[in-house]
Amino acid sequence: MPTLLHLDSSIRHDGSRSRTLSAQFAAAWRQANPDGTVIYRDLASDPIPHLDLTAFSANFVADDDRTDVQREARALTETLANELVAADEIVVGIPLYNFGPPSTFKAWVDRIVVPGLTVDPESGGLLGGRRLTFTAARGGGYGPGTPREGWDHREPWLNNVFSTLGIEEIRFIHAELTLSRESPRMSGLEELEDKSIADARAAIDALFPENDDIAA
Ligand SMILES: Cc1cc2nc3c(=O)[nH]c(=O)nc-3n(C[C@H](O)[C@H](O)[C@H](O)COP(=O)(O)O)c2cc1C
Repeated sequence: MPTLLHLDSSIRHDGSRSRTLSAQFAAAWRQANPDGTVIYRDLASDPIPHLDLTAFSANFVADDDRTDVQREARALTETLANELVAADEIVVGIPLYNFGPPSTFKAWVDRIVVPGLTVDPESGGLLGGRRLTFTAARGGGYGPGTPREGWDHREPWLNNVFSTLGIEEIRFIHAELTLSRESPRMSGLEELEDKSIADARAAIDALFPENDDIAA
């Protein structure tokens, strides 16, 4: 049975573009996979504890030799890694905070890179064959030729992390200039913001051409 792992990480619910877009993706995926299963995690409302030495060291100790606290930490690690391994398709709603990802998402990443579960120290990533889409929101504009081109550090980092885990198909759908109606300095950019979100919505629809056939 096909499985989608759907993550969100914006600290806000109302008005969150990354959540709106990841929800659109999940709805389209459900339509295309009526028998599928969706695993959902809200990393902002229900944050994963930061990786600590207990959780990290538990990954290098045999089952029977773990202390009680290591066993507890390892159980969460396995739950998170197994959710990822179970998924054929992954969508992540991810805002830009201080030119990088939310720390809640980083905390999740630090728990799912696990030798033996998602990566093999000798052969490399174990997550080949999965598709990963980021519905990415950012307040400013970072496109080619803009003064802040290259300042959005999510994309190169995410590509490096998830290609190391073996995922070949990593896609970014950006909604940008989302602060155009809140920041006086961005006055005049409202239409570009609207175009950006419309383009993002269309890009998601285009990923599910089979839904056009269902609708026809
Ligand atoms: C703590 C924080 C830091 C932010 N840092 C940036 C930033 O570095 N660059 C930027 O363009 N927008 C920044 N923003 C604006 C968000 O990226 C923007 O509001 C985006 O739409 C948030 O995603 P969401 O709509 O899913 O909530 C920041 C917002 C917050 C709350």
